[in-house]
Amino acid sequence: MKILVTGGCGYIGSHTIVDLIDNGFEVISVDSTIRSSEKVLEGIKEITGVAVQNYKIDLCDKAATRTIFQDHPEIKGIIHFAALKSVPESVEKPLDYFNNNLNSLLSVLACQKEFEIPHFIFSSSCSVYGNTAELPVTETTAFMEAECPYARTKQMGEHIVRDFTNANPSLNGVLLRYFNPAGAHESSKIGELTFGPASNLVPVITDTAAGKRESFTVFGSDYSTRDGSCVRDYIHVMDLANAHTKAIQYLTKKANASNCEVFNLGIGQGVTVLEAINAFEKVTGLSLNYEVGSRRPGDVEAIYSNYEQAALKLQWEPTRDIEDIMRTAWAWETRST
Ligand SMILES: NC(=O)c1ccc[n+]([C@@H]2O[C@H](COP(=O)([O-])OP(=O)(O)OC[C@H]3O[C@@H](n4cnc5c(N)ncnc54)[C@H](O)[C@@H]3O)[C@@H](O)[C@H]2O)c1
Repeated sequence: MKILVTGGCGYIGSHTIVDLIDNGFEVISVDSTIRSSEKVLEGIKEITGVAVQNYKIDLCDKAATRTIFQDHPEIKGIIHFAALKSVPESVEKPLDYFNNNLNSLLSVLACQKEFEIPHFIFSSSCSVYGNTAELPVTETTAFMEAECPYARTKQMGEHIVRDFTNANPSLNGVLLRYFNPAGAHESSKIGELTFGPASNLVPVITDTAAGKRESFTVFGSDYSTRDGSCVRDYIHVMDLANAHTKAIQYLTKKANASNCEVFNLGIGQGVTVLEAINAFEKVTGLSLNYEVGSRRPGDVEAIYSNYEQAALKLQWEPTRDIEDIMRTAWAWETRST
């Protein structure tokens, strides 16, 4: 079966392509490379032996997007990763985020309808829940106010996919809400590339250990958590990638009860910032240079998932933990420097 992966040169998209190929799927990628590089395809080829074709197209360009489906009438599913994802950048440039993340989605959904592609998977995020007090978060936890324009594009994206699938009962959608993806493929041939200063904890840690930055700050030591630092649910990118393969298999088996379903993808356990730091120091034997500072505005105290629905319906289980994340992230960092 042929699957179109949008954002296939990006972090999660590239790892998902590897998992799809490992599971017998044929893959086409579309990525403008606004936040990536086609060099990633070389890493995918080294791992899988497969040269994946990429269309270097901006998905906001509807006419250009149509050409992919005209060229490949056998496409049966779309996994839509392509988006801008920086929280601080979205605060500075909200219109760029609404324009890119929503117009690319509209363009892809219009093609899904025109070319009658039965299956569509949307990359959503735990940021749709906002600053929720309900823990662990389930798929029915109510959305709070979005904390930034990026999160709002994900909330709006989910609403768009729901309305679209309601209006088109023969087409399926799955909304996947990722918690905190991190780590790299075990081969270190693909991993996370950062554009501009890293803001997520794991790349900040590896950049510091590699000497790309002198030190970093742990924001807050007075939260009501085990050690006072914030709690997040870190999920290894290869576990996350596999959930997409499972979601496509779920739809092709017609196991879905409705034509728009939603799944949390985390490991169901919160890890504090200080525990993550300790995990890195333990697996690498290195000592990190950091200071503990005051809280950062906008940070949620704690968020972690209940992923029972994905376990039950998609038959998906994460198999890697925070130490696997740190080990593979460090192997990737030291290979690419
Ligand atoms: N990484 C995370 O922490 C995280 C967490 C939750 C959700 N997500 C979502 O998962 C998806 C993938 O994230 P990622 O970490 O792989 O990001 P990424 O930036 O590495 O990959 C996104 C890719 O999409 C491409 N792209 C962006 N806009 C495009 C457009 N208009 N046309 C064609 N290509 C375009 C970029 O060049 C990039 O290669 C995104 O939708 C993101 O919002 C990511």
